[in-house]
Amino acid sequence: MAGPTNDDIQDKLLNHTYDGIQEYDNPMPRWWLLTFAATIVFSVIYLFNIGPVGSGKGRIADYEADMAAYAKAHPAPTGGDMSSDQLLALVKDEEAMEEGKEAYTAYCASCHAPDGGGLIGPNLADAYWLHGGTIADIYKTVTIGVLEKGMPPWGKTLKPEQLSAVVAYVSTLQGTTPANPKAPQGTPVTP
Ligand code: HEC
Repeated sequence: MAGPTNDDIQDKLLNHTYDGIQEYDNPMPRWWLLTFAATIVFSVIYLFNIGPVGSGKGRIADYEADMAAYAKAHPAPTGGDMSSDQLLALVKDEEAMEEGKEAYTAYCASCHAPDGGGLIGPNLADAYWLHGGTIADIYKTVTIGVLEKGMPPWGKTLKPEQLSAVVAYVSTLQGTTPANPKAPQGTPVTP
């Protein structure tokens, strides 16, 4: 009826006493050790995310899936969705021109000079363009920027109306005579 008691087990007592407590020299049970070893093996596989064992399909596949999901959620600006005609129509819209000039003064004048003559950025009043001089080209350049050359992308900073207005405004600088024009850069574009 009673199970084995300590007295029945022929275990070897270890030769020490801590605070009156003695202990047997018993190994951990086999099932426990195997489970322990299995968790170590699993943790290594999990850590390196190998195959289907880890949290995903493998590190590289996970990374690529994350990057693809990010790219989908944050599409690169393509140049906006205003047509040339819509942009040119804004040139005749006084309110839009007012807004465009305001945005130009606030965001562009520091690099392109208040009158478009150019400072760090190129002259926007001459006929020479690095990235194309049609209003659609300007719209695209302003939207996506030329970051490696120091021209910020404005497509996500400005509101869409502001962006089209400032582009329309820039197109009106063409042929004006800035106070200190920067030397032409790029190729001439005939309007
Ligand atoms: C921090 C300085 C900086 C600011 C601010 C800036 N730009 Fe620029 N921009 C540049 C530089 C530098 C370039 C020349 C890029 C290159 O060399 O490819 C440039 C190029 C351009 C071009 C193309 C010119 C060409 O010859 O093709 C346009 C158009 C333009 N900027 C418009 C704008 C407008 C509009 C704004 C404001 C919304 C603006 N920029 C604000 C620095 C700036």
